[in-house]
Amino acid sequence: MPALAVSFVFVTLALFLAVVRRVVDRKGIKHVRGPPSPSFLCGHEEAYVRQEEACDLEFKWMREYGYTWRTGGAFGTDVLTTVDPKAMQHIMQKSGYNYTKKTTSFHMSWLMSGPGIVSVLGKDHQRHRKIMNPAFSAAHLRTFLPLFQRVAGKLSEKWKADLMATGELNTMLNTWLSRATLDVIGEAAFDFDYNALDGGERSAISKGYKDIFKDVDYQLGKPSILFRASWDYLPVPLLKVIKYIPAHPWTRIRDLNNLYREYGRQILHEQAPVVDAEKKATSKDIMSILIKANSSEDPKMRMDDEEIIAEMYTLTIAGHETTSTTLTFLLYELAKNQEYQDRMRQEIRSVRAQITARGGNQFTIEDLDSLTLTMNAIKETLRMHPIVVGLHRVAEKDDVIPLAYPVTSTTGEVLTEIPVRAGQVVFLSYAGYQRLPEVWGDDTNVWNPDRFSRLETGKQTNVGVFANLMAFSAGVRACIGWRFSLIEMQAFLAELLDNFQFDLPAEKVEIQRALAGIVMFPIVKGKESLGGAMPMRISLAQ
Ligand code: HEM
Ligand SMILES: *[C@@H]1O[C@H](CO)[C@@H](O)[C@H](O)[C@H]1NC(C)=O
Ligand SMILES: *[C@@H]1O[C@H](CO)[C@@H](O)[C@H](O)[C@H]1NC(C)=O
Repeated sequence: MPALAVSFVFVTLALFLAVVRRVVDRKGIKHVRGPPSPSFLCGHEEAYVRQEEACDLEFKWMREYGYTWRTGGAFGTDVLTTVDPKAMQHIMQKSGYNYTKKTTSFHMSWLMSGPGIVSVLGKDHQRHRKIMNPAFSAAHLRTFLPLFQRVAGKLSEKWKADLMATGELNTMLNTWLSRATLDVIGEAAFDFDYNALDGGERSAISKGYKDIFKDVDYQLGKPSILFRASWDYLPVPLLKVIKYIPAHPWTRIRDLNNLYREYGRQILHEQAPVVDAEKKATSKDIMSILIKANSSEDPKMRMDDEEIIAEMYTLTIAGHETTSTTLTFLLYELAKNQEYQDRMRQEIRSVRAQITARGGNQFTIEDLDSLTLTMNAIKETLRMHPIVVGLHRVAEKDDVIPLAYPVTSTTGEVLTEIPVRAGQVVFLSYAGYQRLPEVWGDDTNVWNPDRFSRLETGKQTNVGVFANLMAFSAGVRACIGWRFSLIEMQAFLAELLDNFQFDLPAEKVEIQRALAGIVMFPIVKGKESLGGAMPMRISLAQ
């Protein structure tokens, strides 16, 4: 009952405020073409979250309307949707904080983590980012390579032990990779063992995080869509009551947050004395940085206990499933593209032979970077299967958004730029941009890593932080962990492909790209209740 009452009050208030805003501000983006809205209340939001295959809708719309169009948001609002690189560059890369997050999205992060880097805005965000940046410098990240290799090696040993008994391992690939990347982030960020690989089902934290996005955001119905959309119209302090709603998914979110806070306090308790000791005084690891920030004299560099724990939660959630799901999709593509898998393995083995010949026993960063086929496979997977399929932003000020690819207006005019008013919501579809034939070539619906050896990136509009992709987003809020993730993926792939052969399961299953909000993950068609799933047949490589 309280859940219903809160929802009712929120939705009614929001509807009222949305209608008032519409009456007062009649300009807007009505002249931009787009699909007719199926519903005044929900707009396209229901159709979007209920797609069978993530992003098929925008792939269709970009063919119909050009690369920038108008869709319906909740409460009769218009959303400017774009896959245009220049628009993306302008909004994400060049405008600083002038385009902010929607309340719906930053408040959901706040409910999950508390005041961490993903849920704070403007000046607060700048402070969090400034404190965290040194831990993610290229030089510092090199020191994590042995850890990545050790955890990848541990995963490898576990599979080999199983293979000794069975000869062939039929297993959920994503679950293994998720545990491995959870252990990696625990140790890299906090020198803490989440015990996910060894503990398996017994690891409380691994169980706690499992399918969190799916449980919270998958296949929402109209009432949930409207309830969440209402947040965008209400004062943030009022929204804090959502935390206490005694109904799913808010209880799921609260339970995970409580579980994490126990871990957070335990980690702080174990780490703080060590950090205070002189030996770590100059250390750049994430935990030392956070703990030092707690006692900083400079208010611009200070962070309190609440924020530290929120940051730990954030890093754990942002830093493990993203990487493991990307690796999952990559190995899935390799299982479908055996020829590429063979070439990749050959390249890895020939570099490994050189390492052995020079008396070494592990890949260095330079060795990993020389694995062109591996790097191209990573890029191509980030292009075709971006885990964050797109992001919403809201214009803080009136502005004009430039386009690389002009579109035709409802009256037949050619639009080379789109003026927007403060408050205009924009959806940037990263998945859509990453399928543009003008940028990536004609075969953008095919997984073809070799494209990266022939692309002339100098000709493209410069966006993103890596390979002109938007998978890690761009600008002041770009993924802070993108280099971390790349090195981790390189290290895992070198280990796993050297040792194992990946095949699709003997019994044919259909993999779908499911959406939870803006997060994409694989499921088995007809077996959605399994949660994120990628069955795989693993054997020893010849
Ligand atoms: C393939 C792997 C990854 C992908 C595709 C990815 C993608 C993204 C994207 C799209 C954003 C922007 C989100 C937004 O603006 O709301 C983001 C932010 C972030 N990512 Fe990643 N990420 C990955 C791995 C990692 C790793 C390994 C870490 C940590 C070690 C990490 C930490 C973060 C943090 C802290 C933010 C928030 C940055 C901010 O708001 O300033 N990510 N990531
Ligand atoms: C943000 O907007 C203000 C006012 O329109 C403008 O002066 C400023 O240059 C913008 N900031 C960036 C980084 O574009
Ligand atoms: C942070 O500072 C507060 C107040 O100075 C202190 O009570 C707390 O123990 C500190 N936390 C850590 C993790 O050092």
